[in-house]
Amino acid sequence: MANDRLIKLIGLSGSLRTTSWNTALLNAAAKALPANAELSVADLQAIPLYNQDLEPNDFPTAVSELKDRVAEADGLLIATPEYNGGIPGVAKNLIDWLSRPIADQPRVLHGKPVCLLGATPGPTGTANAQVAWLPILRTLRMPLWTDQGSFLVRAAHNVFDDGTMTDDALKERLAAYLAEYVEWVGSRRGRS
Ligand SMILES: Cc1cc2nc3c(=O)[nH]c(=O)nc-3n(C[C@H](O)[C@H](O)[C@H](O)COP(=O)(O)O)c2cc1C
Repeated sequence: MANDRLIKLIGLSGSLRTTSWNTALLNAAAKALPANAELSVADLQAIPLYNQDLEPNDFPTAVSELKDRVAEADGLLIATPEYNGGIPGVAKNLIDWLSRPIADQPRVLHGKPVCLLGATPGPTGTANAQVAWLPILRTLRMPLWTDQGSFLVRAAHNVFDDGTMTDDALKERLAAYLAEYVEWVGSRRGRS
């Protein structure tokens, strides 16, 4: 049956930091997924700063390749840090690239089911940054998984060790959250 097909997800971290908690969160998500899903975490180090002068003829190869990977994925996991109560420039730069040219939005972004996650050493768990994503996702017509509320990782330094999630309760919560997200992605298959 078509719906038994493996669900392919792509993960975007809003941090370029080598020891980023948000990249670690995506790596933990890859391990926590149900057996019918797989997550490929994108390396974003080669994505330059957005510059409209580069459209349409000098679109960077790294961006074009990433756009194709997002277009081919069944769903998108975004792990967002929170900077000054909002979205870090790295993450905003990335989504701005992915949204261009506008004519390509239906192929790449429209209808792509998003799972928003975030980790911070601070007490708010990236709640403010996650709220700041909402108008962006709405503008780009990307449905957000909200049935289980927000996935917020507070005090990240206490739940990861050397890039690995070590908190068993959090691991369980992540697996349950992702299982429902994957089910939702599967149920949306074929829609745009
Ligand atoms: C410019 C800047 C602003 C920050 N503002 C916030 C903030 O508003 N809320 C918060 O929880 N953490 C804030 N932090 C701390 C980040 O959560 C922390 O650096 C985190 O490790 C970034 O995510 P990463 O580990 O994935 O790189 C800020 C950090 C920087 C560098």
